[in-house]
Amino acid sequence: MPQRPIGVFDSGVGGLSVLRRIRTDLPAEHLHYVADCGHAPYGNKSAEFIAARSLALAQFLVDAGAKALIVACNTATAAAITRLREKFNLPIVGVEPAVKPAVAATRSGVIGVLATSGTLESAKFAQLAARYGSNATVIVQPCPGLVEQVERGELTSEKTRALLAGFVQPLIDQGADTLVLGCTHYPFLTPLLRELVGEEVALIETSAAVSRQLARRLAELGLLAEGDGPGTARCWTSGPTQNLADLLPGLWGETLAVASLPTCD
Ligand code: DGL
Repeated sequence: MPQRPIGVFDSGVGGLSVLRRIRTDLPAEHLHYVADCGHAPYGNKSAEFIAARSLALAQFLVDAGAKALIVACNTATAAAITRLREKFNLPIVGVEPAVKPAVAATRSGVIGVLATSGTLESAKFAQLAARYGSNATVIVQPCPGLVEQVERGELTSEKTRALLAGFVQPLIDQGADTLVLGCTHYPFLTPLLRELVGEEVALIETSAAVSRQLARRLAELGLLAEGDGPGTARCWTSGPTQNLADLLPGLWGETLAVASLPTCD
């Protein structure tokens, strides 16, 4: 029987930061990636809208044969993971800001959480901060406009630098020595962030933990792909296919054929 793929989705290209980690850790797996670029960003949309999109994208990936789903988006995880798990009977792994490891890592006792407004205003984030944040000062920083810069492929432009500096400098000024990258688009800005905050500030993201959790769930269920790979990778987008195709070499490291996502509202 042909190996079934892992289905991964995000509002746009951010989930590729998770996908590349899965590719490194589980090279034999076949990967299906959906970028909902036609509806990005999610961060300023209602939880109801994001949940509806997430259910539709998950249905597309399940219909295409997915054996597991990765919600490679903090905002969609906060808005929809409960409903996704109610609806679909397969392993579903989400992404949430790494507050727990950041609190464990901080020496100054101050951490900054960079994320979308949708994530930071969610009940799920409030629970996370209440559960793990009591041993540190947790400063939250919404970053409007940053996802759009990554979607444009502007990882190092002056506009992106100015925007990012405006978000992180107040956190550093308040004593943060650890920054949580609470949106899957932000790891692509790590080189720029490093230039802005230097080497002493820890930058914490979640793709390795997500990939480990996926491997654990697949192993438990006997669903890990056999052999050394390489598995295949396919991409769909709800936006212009050429835009995503142009961004893939920089974000994914190679070109991939990109197909239009069939309407799946
Ligand atoms: N990558 C999504 C996340 O992790 C970005 C959300 C957005 O589109 O605003 O939250």
